[in-house]
This record gives sequence, C-alpha cells and structure tokens, in this order.
Amino acid sequence: MIGSLMMCVSALVLLIGMVAGIVMGIRQDFLLSPAHAHLNLVGGVLLFLFGVYYRLIPAAGRSLLAKVQGAMHIVGGIMFPVGIGITLLANHAYMAIPIIGSLIMLAAMALFVVIVLRTERSGAAA
Ligand code: HEM
Repeated sequence: MIGSLMMCVSALVLLIGMVAGIVMGIRQDFLLSPAHAHLNLVGGVLLFLFGVYYRLIPAAGRSLLAKVQGAMHIVGGIMFPVGIGITLLANHAYMAIPIIGSLIMLAAMALFVVIVLRTERSGAAA
C-alpha cells in the first residue's frame, strides 16, 4: 500500500537528514542547512504524515489518486531539498532542479487536498 511505502521512505529520509545534521554540526559548516531543513520537514515529516493518513483511512489510501499523490510527493520531496543543496554548492546554478521539485510537490499537495475533501465528504473517514 502507498501509505506503507511513504512511511518507509520517510523513515530513511529522516535517518539521512539527521546524519547530515550531525555532519554539519561536526564540520561547523551550515551552508546546506536549508537543504537539511527541507529534507527533514518535507521529505521526512510531511511524507510520514501523508502516509499515516492513508494507513488510518484505507479507503483513501487504496485510491489511484493516493498512489499518484504519494509517488509525486516522494519524488518532489527528495528532488526539492537535493536541488536546494546542489544549487547552494554550485553557486546558484541548476536552479531548475529545486524549482521543478517544488512544483511537483505543490501538485502533490493539491492532489492531497482533493483526496482529503473527497474522503471527508464520502464519510469514509468516520
Ligand atoms: C540528529 C538530528 C539533527 C541534527 C544533528 C541537526 C542539526 C542541525 C544543524 C547543525 C542545523 C544548522 C543550525 C545553524 O544554521 O546554525 C540545523 C538546522 C535546522 N534543522 Fe536540523 N538537525 C537534526 C534534525 C532535524 C529534524 C528532524 C528536523 C525537522 C524535522 C530539522 C530541522 C531543521 C531546521 C528547520 C533547521 C533550520 C534551517 C535554517 O535555518 O536554514 N533538523 N539542524
């Protein structure tokens, strides 16, 4: 189920994000801190929360829309922070990567709004 996949990916992302935070602290180099923050929050916490929603309400999680939403958030939620990191390291080059990543995530967020409204209206969440 897409919810399980999302929670597994999120757990791995958070592990990597925390290691990156420790490395930043050890090196006292905080250039990549915006990438770290977005990886943990968008690629980790948000992805986990969406996954929990699909697990709590299986009717929502089984829909094709949820699978598309989950896949898009996984791609965008990783591409966006990785893109921020690449852009920072490359002196603001490769801006297209975080921009495309953010747009994928925005589209995924819009899908999630549709999914939540549909689920609430259908009474499947009760
Ligand atoms: C082992 C765990 C973690 C370590 C060692 C760590 C370490 C760090 C460090 C060194 C910074 C930079 C601080 C600075 O710029 O002065 C930072 C910033 C930040 N971290 Fe973490 N972090 C960890 C986990 C997390 C998690 C789980 C989240 C979110 C869910 C998070 C969100 C943030 C945010 C929002 C910032 C501020 C970014 C900014 O101001 O640009 N961190 N962290």
